[in-house]
Amino acid sequence: MVGLGVALAVAAGGLPAGGAAAESSAERGDYLVNTVMACGNCHTPVGPNGPMMERALSGGLRFETPDFTVHAPNITQDAATGIGGWSDAEIKRAIVEGVRPDGALLAPVMPTTFYQVLTGDDLDAIVAYLRTVPAVEATTPPRSFSALPEAHPFPGAEAPIPEAERAADVVRNGFYLATIAHCMECHVAWTPTGPDPVNGLGAGGREFPGPWGVSVASNITSHPEHGLGGWSDEEIARAITTGVSRDGSRLKPPMGFGYYAGMTPEDVGAIVAWLRTLPPR
Ligand code: HEC
Ligand code: HEC
Repeated sequence: MVGLGVALAVAAGGLPAGGAAAESSAERGDYLVNTVMACGNCHTPVGPNGPMMERALSGGLRFETPDFTVHAPNITQDAATGIGGWSDAEIKRAIVEGVRPDGALLAPVMPTTFYQVLTGDDLDAIVAYLRTVPAVEATTPPRSFSALPEAHPFPGAEAPIPEAERAADVVRNGFYLATIAHCMECHVAWTPTGPDPVNGLGAGGREFPGPWGVSVASNITSHPEHGLGGWSDEEIARAITTGVSRDGSRLKPPMGFGYYAGMTPEDVGAIVAWLRTLPPR
């Protein structure tokens, strides 16, 4: 009896704060896909009333550049029009290497250059969750391109950051989360040759035209006037998770606050801690 009591106490001590039971791989994947990584921000169709959740992940946004026109495809489990017929290895290769089973390269709109930082466990979790996504039959128009720009890994995202390293350092964890959330795909300075993560990390300025007009990615470096330097942690967390800026104004798409709303306070806090370390621009 005594032995059992000790075992229970140890097990209870090992539970995460809040007392929630350990999450399964598919649950972890659900969290990653639908909050931090906001896959639906591109892959879910948008109707007049916002994202069409009954057709979640069945194909969404169109991306047009001088070099290519692509649509975020159907990644539901439909075998004919989605990825239901792909093996786990094929899905992982598309996510982290940007290569389809037929060998075709994906346009770098799909943020594979950020996803190489994913740990094996998180990649397994994403695939486990995708397997649970209801099949929706939907085709997106064929892709067309003259050239695909060369894709380079985001600096620091060349290899997975182990779980233990993140558990030991909140800023490191924040970098991991902000990277898989690809915040810096939008909030980086853009030059005629593409993004400049070395000199323009967090500087913003990239324009996003859409039904909302044109939104401009904000400067989210620690600059005291142009960036977030003068904001409190709570104000930054509120902007990320509710889309309300410091002055109370509402942020426009494609900032993914509707997805980030579901992030745990710990994960939002880690991202804020990392943003604080960005040199002012
Ligand atoms: C910024 C927009 C964007 C985000 C975010 C995004 N994707 Fe994509 N994804 C795309 C686009 C666009 C393509 C197609 C590119 C092409 O056709 O060359 C694509 C292709 C894919 C493919 C290959 C499918 C096929 O039929 O070729 C898979 C699998 C995929 N994405 C999974 C995901 C997952 C899982 C996530 C989240 C972890 C995600 N994507 C996040 C835009 C995005
Ligand atoms: C797909 C592009 C995109 C992604 C990804 C993105 N953002 Fe944004 N973000 C924007 C745009 C555009 C705005 C400005 C919206 C506006 O002004 O209405 C913005 C605004 C913000 C603001 C408000 C700043 C201010 O001055 O009001 C913060 C903070 C922010 N983003 C942080 C983040 C973080 C952290 C991430 C990753 C977890 C992220 N963003 C991911 C496009 C993006």
